[in-house]
Parts: sequence; C-alpha cells; structure tokens
Amino acid sequence: MVEKLIKTFYETFGEGGDVRTYFAPGRVNLIGEHTDYNGGHVFPCALTLGTYGIVRDREDRTLRLYSVNIDSVGVVEVSLDEIAATKEASWTNYPKGVVWAFEKRGFKLTHGMDILIYGDIPNGSGLSSSASLEVLTGVILKDTFGFDVSMVDIALIGQDAENNFNGCNCGIMDQFASAMGKKDNAIFLDTNTLNYTYAPVNLPDAKIVITNSKVKHSLVSSAYNDRRNESETALKELQAVVDIKTLGDLTEEQFEEHKGAIKDDICRKRAKHAVYENQRAIHAVEALKANDIETFGKLMNASHESLRYDYEVSCEEIDVLVDLAQAMPGVIGSRITGGGFGGCTVSIVKNDTVDTFIEEIGKAYLEKTGHEAEFYVVDIGDGAGKLG
Ligand code: GLA
Repeated sequence: MVEKLIKTFYETFGEGGDVRTYFAPGRVNLIGEHTDYNGGHVFPCALTLGTYGIVRDREDRTLRLYSVNIDSVGVVEVSLDEIAATKEASWTNYPKGVVWAFEKRGFKLTHGMDILIYGDIPNGSGLSSSASLEVLTGVILKDTFGFDVSMVDIALIGQDAENNFNGCNCGIMDQFASAMGKKDNAIFLDTNTLNYTYAPVNLPDAKIVITNSKVKHSLVSSAYNDRRNESETALKELQAVVDIKTLGDLTEEQFEEHKGAIKDDICRKRAKHAVYENQRAIHAVEALKANDIETFGKLMNASHESLRYDYEVSCEEIDVLVDLAQAMPGVIGSRITGGGFGGCTVSIVKNDTVDTFIEEIGKAYLEKTGHEAEFYVVDIGDGAGKLG
C-alpha cells in the first residue's frame, strides 16, 4: 500500500528527491463518551485504520497538499505566509490548522513541503479521520523540522487546531488516542489531568466489532457545540452549590444531591449523562482488569441508553443497530461510539457469534433503514509515527 502511495506521489508532484512516510491511526472509544470536555475519563484505543502521509521537502515556502481520497479537489497550494482557514481549502484546513497551531507556539516552518495524504478510515464515521490527519501533520512537522514536542503536545496542538482553526470545540480524546495509542491496549485517560494508563484488552473469547451505520454526521454542525454549552451551563449552576471544577468531580450520589441547582431540564439531563458516564468508564476499566467482561458489556449498554435519552446524540439508524445487537445472544455489549448523530457503534461479540452478527444485523439493518452497514473487526494498533 505504501509503495502504491509513493508511486502516486511521484505521479502527482513529479519525480525525484527522497520521500518520507508517516501514519496516524483513527480510534474507537470503548466507553466514556462526551466526558472528555467535562473533566471525565475516556477509554479509547487506536485502530490499525488511519491516515498515511508521504512527504518531500521543498526549498520554497509553499505547501502542496493532495488527498487521494478527495481527489476531486486536486492539489491545493498554500504559502506558509498565508495560513488561514477558507471554505475552498476543504480538507486542507486540517493540516493548515496544525501548521498554524505550531507557529502560534513559536515553532516556525523554514521551508515548504509536498504532502500526499491517504486515509482508510471512512470519512464522517466517527472514527476520528480528522484527528488522525491532525496528529499525522503534527508528527510530520516534528520530524521534518526537529521541533521539540512530545506526543502529548502533538495531541494538544491537534485539538487546538480543531477548536480554534476549524471551529469544532472537541475534547482531547481523539487526538490523544491517535498520538498515544498502543497495540492491544486501550488508554484509560483522565481528561482533567491528562494522566493515563494503558489497559491490555485481552478478550480470548470475543472480538470488538465496529458497525458503520453509513449515516454521516458533521461534528462542526452546531449539535456537538450545543452539547458542550449545555454541559457548561449545568456546571456553572452546580458550582453555586458545590465546590467542583468539572462535572467529572462528582459521584452519582453527589449529583443526585445537588442536581436541583440546574434550572433547565435539558441541561440537567446533559450533566447527568456526563457524571454517570464518567463513573461508568471508571467501573468498566476495573471490570476489564478483573476479566469481568460481562460487567463491561452491561456498562456499554447503559452508556448507550444514557447517550440516547439523556445526552441525545444518537439517531434512529444507530438505535436500530444497537437494539439489534443487544438483542442477539453472544453479544456482550453494544453502544454508539464517538461524537454521535450517526457514525458507528462498537460491540463486544463472542468469537463464535461474529459471523452471525455481521450477516444478520447487516440484513435486518438494510431492511429497516435502506442503508448497507459496514463491519470492521478491530485490531488495536499503535499510535502515530514515522514508517520510513
Ligand atoms: C468527538 C470529539 C471527542 C469526544 C467525542 C465524544 O469524537 O472529537 O473529543 O468529545 O466526540 O465522546
């Protein structure tokens, strides 16, 4: 695959010169959804699907960017002296945003580059194709210019680019998972402190299966930012009665005691989700460590219920997938994963049920919604880096 991309690189940008190759993965979150901007815990893992970059240095100050996936846009040229977000720039606003965020921190790019991008994460599927592109760009810049930044810095820079250049007020989970992933492990991250530990995902009898609803959402659309604002309103009202910095500081009992301080019903539901989901993530990791996968699965199901009714980030098609999965013998747990409003579900499925799962759910989903679902049996991969 990399060989083929290098060939396309030379066809697109001309022969000659050395190229370097990089990769940054997408992620799937196992539990802890919409907690990362609420000071809670998340539990994502990096995929082996992700975004590749082929890079060659230029002597001038031009960046030439080309995506194999969005080939209709063609090669986009931009001067390093004119980095600004524009509508016409399409996908290139992601790498440009990362250049902008580096320069803001005093890391100056001294020359341009030709960059070819290819991703095998389905776009808009909630598996972090944009975060992987941001982290990929961070890794390219660190390596090319010798910038003294850690992989955690690269995640934070990617988030800054997404928040302040691309206008989506996302949390840190996606960029962190892409930068810091570890093969066969999920990352238990406290988004309040950025303390993290790796937890081996050893499932001898089961597989993690992602189901893509093929219904696309747009995170930049206001719904994600609305959820964030509603959670912040709830936090402010709670802070009048209890000494907390984030919703993640509360236990379920403390929330129940103080929830009356939140005036609006919708904001109260959002806060309830953030508090309970954080506790679910903590309990789920304990269960996984104790090899209690059944409890892990029940917490996944409860997570979906809360995202569906309290946080309201699911949609009809996703609920069809989750209902079908949860009703199937041999499915340990199933929930929506990622930002929501479409995208994917994540399920833990017993090994001998995986084929039936794919066949029967695929068929029933098509009948009920007219969409053809896609299934990926997950391999947990490493975080971003240079391939060669
Ligand atoms: C998106 C955001 C993340 C996180 C999830 C929901 O993927 O980019 O920061 O908030 O939604 O858990």
